[in-house]
Amino acid sequence: MQSFFIHTFGCQMNVHDSQRMHELLCTSGLRPVDSAEAADLIVINTCSVRDKAEQKLDSELGKLKRLKERRADPPVLAVTGCVATQRGEAMLKRLPFIDLVLGPDNLGELPALAHAIAGGAPPVVRTRFDLDDPRFLAPSSEAAAPSAFVSISKGCDERCSFCIVPSTRGPERHRAPAEIVDEVTQLVQRGALEVVLLGQTVNGYRNPISSADGASNGSDFADLLRAVAAGVPALKRLRYTSPHPRFYGPDVVQAHRELDVLCRHVHMPVQSGSDPVLKRMIRRYTRGEFLEIVRSLRQARPDLTVSTDIIVGFPGETDEDFEQTLSIMREARFTGVYAFKYSPRPGTPALRLGDDIPESVKSARLARVFELSDQLMTEHLQTLVDTVQEVLVEEPSHRGGRQLSGHTKRNEIVHLDRVDGVDRGAGIIRVKITRAFKHSLEGQPLDPLPPAGPATRTPVRLNVVQD
Ligand code: 5AD
Repeated sequence: MQSFFIHTFGCQMNVHDSQRMHELLCTSGLRPVDSAEAADLIVINTCSVRDKAEQKLDSELGKLKRLKERRADPPVLAVTGCVATQRGEAMLKRLPFIDLVLGPDNLGELPALAHAIAGGAPPVVRTRFDLDDPRFLAPSSEAAAPSAFVSISKGCDERCSFCIVPSTRGPERHRAPAEIVDEVTQLVQRGALEVVLLGQTVNGYRNPISSADGASNGSDFADLLRAVAAGVPALKRLRYTSPHPRFYGPDVVQAHRELDVLCRHVHMPVQSGSDPVLKRMIRRYTRGEFLEIVRSLRQARPDLTVSTDIIVGFPGETDEDFEQTLSIMREARFTGVYAFKYSPRPGTPALRLGDDIPESVKSARLARVFELSDQLMTEHLQTLVDTVQEVLVEEPSHRGGRQLSGHTKRNEIVHLDRVDGVDRGAGIIRVKITRAFKHSLEGQPLDPLPPAGPATRTPVRLNVVQD
């Protein structure tokens, strides 16, 4: 076995997990290739948050079954991530062409198990949560990407009634602050300019060393933000995702006020603008409380942008409830909305509420959310024309052509006009914004373009398919 290919579905946590698997496999002597056809090991890192993602997985697995049958030297096929936990042993029984099923806490075993299977060992299923001795896979010593993920907690103790994640990723476990600061330091030394702290409810972070068990009020998270800012002064930008509104205590808002390194953007899922729906979703905040957080964040940082996640067609959602969702979008002035049709998930509390909103109504509501979100985004982007913005310019992707683009501290995407990105590296430069498109901006650089990164920089290339 010499080569591997990773196909990633789903969220940032999965992208992070795929990056760690990529590094582990490289360290074990394998090299990445561009397609499943060319790989000796194929890893499908799965998502089960909505049924659609699972359907895509099933169609992908169908293709891989045929690929295995066709090839004289059939590759090892590993299924990792949330569907692995959810289906476990049943997956091997139903789809016997799969060789390896690994839950999110078992990814460290991937290289050894894959090598064993290539050598003739039987199929393996490992989906145990590491509750007693939680492990967080650290990045390898390769050069870091300009924007790097650092996971600060895993699992989820919330019980949002629609969500499958607590059962697929297990109970919450938190990482020690010193370990987190250390990882950020190393990433910055290897070239990262921006770090995104990751957790399912990232601001519910509890310091495993000092904190007494109990509900978080966000203060351990605020302390962590301060510790990263103070401990890694060379870090240019700090982000986090995704926070839960109920853990936004005054301390986190204060951290936004204090810390210049903290980006002026928060992705805070609202899910619905209607109190009765939020209650049935077991979100544990009201519309008023959500808007109050947005107001206090904007008081701390007037230019802060807020993006969100919205579910339409949750059981019992009336036209009036839905209008409340549209109105909170306007009131909160969301720029960036990820919206989804409610999808009943196995084992979740919302199943007992039925799935009573017809598909046609879900589709119509989704279309209206996108229409309003486009309008809010376009209006916001228009206000930035003729301004000067600091843009974190990424190296041109191998697939994405020659144009350079990057993002501002508020997370707006900026394309650099008529600039050839070949042989350019990552860096932060000032850009004069010349045009606004529907979802992005265009501008002229005012500073010299960043020079190409060191020859050793080999950014992890991922085949990420978002659902
Ligand atoms: N149906 C539809 N959307 C869902 N999400 C989570 N579970 C479901 C579900 N059962 C959405 C939420 C969450 C995002 C990651 O996915 O909006 O914030």
